[in-house]
Amino acid sequence: MTVPVTVTVTGASGQIAYGLLFRIAGGAMLGADASIKLRLLEIPAAVGSLEGVAMELEDGAYPLLSSIDITDDPRVAFEGANIAMLVGARPRTKGMERSDLLSANGAIFTEHGSAINAAAADDIKVLVVGNPANTNALIAMHNAPDVPRTRFTALTRLDHNRAIAQLAKKTGTPASHIHRVGIWGNHSNTQYPDIFHALVDGKPAVDVVDDENWLVDDFIPTVQERGTAIIKARGASSAASAANGAINHMRDWVRGTRTDDWVSMAVCSDGSYGVQEGLISSFPVTCAGGEYTIVPDLEINDFSRSRIDASVAELAHEYESVRELGYVSD
Ligand code: NAI
Repeated sequence: MTVPVTVTVTGASGQIAYGLLFRIAGGAMLGADASIKLRLLEIPAAVGSLEGVAMELEDGAYPLLSSIDITDDPRVAFEGANIAMLVGARPRTKGMERSDLLSANGAIFTEHGSAINAAAADDIKVLVVGNPANTNALIAMHNAPDVPRTRFTALTRLDHNRAIAQLAKKTGTPASHIHRVGIWGNHSNTQYPDIFHALVDGKPAVDVVDDENWLVDDFIPTVQERGTAIIKARGASSAASAANGAINHMRDWVRGTRTDDWVSMAVCSDGSYGVQEGLISSFPVTCAGGEYTIVPDLEINDFSRSRIDASVAELAHEYESVRELGYVSD
């Protein structure tokens, strides 16, 4: 067996982590050959409940799990980390203004970014799940100046999977026959799920669907508002599906995407498709050899352009807000 991979998960006693940790330990993310050291971070008040989660992990007797460490100290949590899944975040509570939310999370992701900068392994890969995920990733990235910007990503794979699921339902096709769906922009209700390049059983999705009203009035809002619909139905936000998206995201980043398909990841824009350089925005990407590449040269029609621009404008606005709050530099 190879040298263990150190995987740090924050917010480790929360809902999403409960859907995540056991699958990581079972090999769903890094494969059946990768031995794993889990480093679990929580706030002091939640360390007691995290001890229970650690006991359950132990009770799985997972062959791949070489150790479990729990801590409330980010420097300890990120020491030697190869993979960091930043799930812990401050939720928006009643009476909280958006600026309060950005500020509370700004403090968390500044601390976590600095600890990654100081302590993580050279090959660190970071996935931010905690909301507002794109801007939290931006803050962590700015506070880790020694880590290449390409190592900071945020989760839009859940949105990508939701888009596949809706298209599969509409066309009566198994999800596995749907390829090249893409999510652009922010993980928020301005995100743009794009099916203009998607294929259903190898045929253009727009031709198979042949229903513009469905695309505009049903598909796009359903994907954008799916998180809210789940909160309404379940009384709690998506957890198992978010964990699944996080595993898919990291698995593909580390182990590569299929040759005939792409996935969606929020990554640091290099200016592709007119997205302001430096914003953490979702793009269609392919992954190989542990690196991602934004899919080049896609034709963007006027409809897509206006939707992408609207979501990117929201990201730029969030960037300005956290810059004014002092969490990121220019
Ligand atoms: P949760 O409230 O069940 O768990 C969050 C955990 O984070 C709590 O145990 C809390 O103690 C911990 N935490 C808070 N501050 C921390 C810090 N400074 N260091 C370490 N741990 C800390 O929430 P849940 O359901 O697990 O969701 C986590 C986050 O993921 C939320 O921000 C949620 O909005 C977001 N989310 C993102 C999705 C995406 O697709 N990007 C989808 C669904 C949820």
